[in-house]
Parts: sequence; C-alpha cells; structure tokens
Amino acid sequence: MLNFEFHNPTRIVFGRDTIARLSSLVPAGSKVLLTYGGGSIFRNGVYAQVRKALTGFQVEEFGGIEPNPRFETLQKAVALVKEKKIDFLLAVGGGSVLDGTKYISAAACYQGADPWNILRTAGEGVDTALPIGAVLTLPATGSEANGSAVVSRNETTEKLHFWSALVYPRFSILDPAVTFSLDARQTGNGVVDTFIHTTEQYMTVHSDSAVQDRFAEGILSTLIEEGPKALSNPSDYPARANLMWAATQALMGAMGSGFPGDWAAHGIGHELTAFYGLDHGQTLAVIAPGIWRYQFERKKARLAQYGVRVWFLDGEDDWVAKQAISRTEAFFESMGVGTHLTAYGVDAEEAGDRIRKRFEERGAKQGEEGSLSPEDVEKIILSRA
Ligand code: NZQ
Ligand code: ZN
Repeated sequence: MLNFEFHNPTRIVFGRDTIARLSSLVPAGSKVLLTYGGGSIFRNGVYAQVRKALTGFQVEEFGGIEPNPRFETLQKAVALVKEKKIDFLLAVGGGSVLDGTKYISAAACYQGADPWNILRTAGEGVDTALPIGAVLTLPATGSEANGSAVVSRNETTEKLHFWSALVYPRFSILDPAVTFSLDARQTGNGVVDTFIHTTEQYMTVHSDSAVQDRFAEGILSTLIEEGPKALSNPSDYPARANLMWAATQALMGAMGSGFPGDWAAHGIGHELTAFYGLDHGQTLAVIAPGIWRYQFERKKARLAQYGVRVWFLDGEDDWVAKQAISRTEAFFESMGVGTHLTAYGVDAEEAGDRIRKRFEERGAKQGEEGSLSPEDVEKIILSRA
C-alpha cells in the first residue's frame, strides 16, 4: 500500500424525512441560491420540502441545469450569484446539479480571465469557492461527498473534469425516499456508475490492499443484490437506502486510498457523452468490459479475485476471469443498461476514429500507468460495436 492522506469533510445526514434538517444545516443569515435541474424536484415533492425547511432564509433560485451540465448554462448562474451577492449554494438534484453547483461555486470566485480554464487545468487556480450544501436525489456519482465535478461545453463538444478540496459539500442530505421517483433508466445508470467507480479502483495491478478490496467487493455484491429489487419495486426503501449509501461510499475517497486508480472507462466514456450524448452510466456499461477484455493479461488476477469473491465462481483463473466479465455484462443488461454501441445507435468505427483523434490532439493516454494509447482506445471502442 502506498502512503496516503484521507480527509473527507462532508457531513452526511442520511435517512427518511431528513430534508427538514436544512433549517439548521444552512448557516443562519445566509443568502442562498437554490440550484436544480429540469423539474423532477417539483414532481416528487422535494422542492416543497426544501422550501418549507428554508422558511425565513433569503433564497434565490436557478433551475434548468441539464444532465451533463453545460458551461453555457452555468455561466448564467455565476452572473446571478455575483448580482445577488449570494453566499451559500444549495444544490438539489442528481450528480449534474451537484457538479454544476461546484463549478458555480468555484467560478463565482475565480480571478482568471477565462473560467473554462478551471476545467482545462482540472482545477488549478481554484483558490476560493463559495460554500455548498446538497440534497441528493439520484445515487450514482458520489458527487455528494467528493471534490469532483464534470462540466460539458456545447461550443467545443468537450466534457471535462475538475477537482478541488474547496468544493466538497459542507453537508449532503441523503433521503432514500426521494429516489422512489427515479425511472428504470436512471436507476440502472446509477447502479452501473457506482459499480464502475468501484472497479476503476479495484481492477488495477495493486494486490496488497486487503481492506480496500473487501470494501470494494462488498459494494459490488450489494449492487448485484439490491439493484434488481429497486428496479422491480421502485419504492423498496431498504433497497434504495442500500444503493444510496453504496454510491456515496464508492467515490468518497476511502476505497481508493493507497494505490492509483484506472479511470480509463470514465476518460473514454466522457468522450462518448460529449460526441453522442449517451448517459454517463451507459458509456461505462459499454466501455469497461471492453477494457477488461483488451487488457486481460494485465487485469486477469484482479478479475479472477472478483469472480471468486463476488460471483462465487470456481476454476482456473483464466476461466473465472472471463466468466466474471460476461456475468458483469449480463448484470448491466438485466439492469436495463445496454453494453454495446448499437444499443445507442452509435457507429463504432466513427466513434473510435473521433475519440482516437481527440486523445492524439491532447496527447492523452488512458488507464493505470497510462497503459492505453489513443490507438488502443480506438480498438476498444471497435470491440464494443
Ligand atoms: O434534471 P431533473 O429534472 O432533476 O431530472 C434528472 C435528470 O433528468 C433526473 N432525476 C434526478 N433525480 C431524480 C430524477 N428523476 C426522478 N426522480 C428523482 N429523484 O435524472 C436525470 C439524470 O440526472 P443527472 O444528475 O444527470 O444524473 P447523475 O446523477 O447520473 O449525474 C451525471 C453527471 O455526473 C457526472 C457525469 O459525468 C454526469 O455529467 N459524474 C460526476 C462525478 C463526480 N462529481 O464525482 C463522477 C461520475 O463519474 C460522473 O462523471
Ligand atoms: Zn462515473
């Protein structure tokens, strides 16, 4: 295990009817900007709960943050923050609303000439940010307890990521009951995203992190057991609660401490979203199994351990590892998330070509130890037609 430092400053308030806790969590006297997405919070009663809890606070609102939040939209919120002298941001929604709000928080204080540089430099130059609180409505990204945000830009067809210790939410409210209204598509996406956050940190060359391994395997097993329950009965509180806590745990820093991650499925997946508009979870279901097959020898030992411990397979490493990949694909399909590009009407040759060129232009290698060149990435995409 490599040396590491772990600090997660987000207070998690978890459980039924916890939105009411906002009245004491938002600092008294704050001028709040409530940010939200396309309107799901009006349909499922979350907005009403939030406004009730904020009685007595000065609140402005900014809605319309899209899935895969857009720089162009978020800049409007930055202007509003400055105009209204907002000093606290409250994000109410899924990962896109939370990520967008992290960007708003950093960009509102940014001194540089071009705020897109926050993304271009992955967060360099972010030295002040407004405080954020969150009410999470979609378990998937882990954004509720990390310092990451992903922002898309229409003008350049880019989807880029930044990280800053300053944009961790001060608190996040996680009421599993607000996720009953998620449809099958978003439920499936959330399970796949959590799954791949776990494998990005597990399916690597490291082998001496016993606690992190068992932690990861526990989350994978939980997803396999609980995901189908939430799909067949959207109001299954225990299943929704387990999925919500799994998503937070998968990307709040503890599981990946002590070794480098892989993150190639995310790197390639972001390009598929930027060029073709696939949901984030869909891109991961397509790309991750392709990477495991392409880098089979490199990842075989880890795949085999996963096959034995999570799928209870028994046999030679080679066979177990291959079976484990097939079982995973079947699981994603059973959650309603297609694992091939044809399911989304994307031409693999065109996508492979575009994404190879983009990584060539950026001089970007993917995966652990930069083990995937742009040509490797193209081959992986072609294998997922
Ligand atoms: O916009 P509204 O109307 O709220 O509807 C949303 C949206 O259409 C809907 N939704 C959310 N909660 C709901 C609900 N519908 C009914 N009931 C509810 N309770 O779901 C749709 C998708 O929402 P979105 O926020 O886009 O999904 P998700 O949470 O999967 O976030 C995806 C974004 O997060 C980024 C992704 O790249 C993508 O841009 N990620 C962020 C990460 C991070 N910050 O650490 C890590 C991830 O790997 C990921 O990259
Ligand atoms: Zn993800």
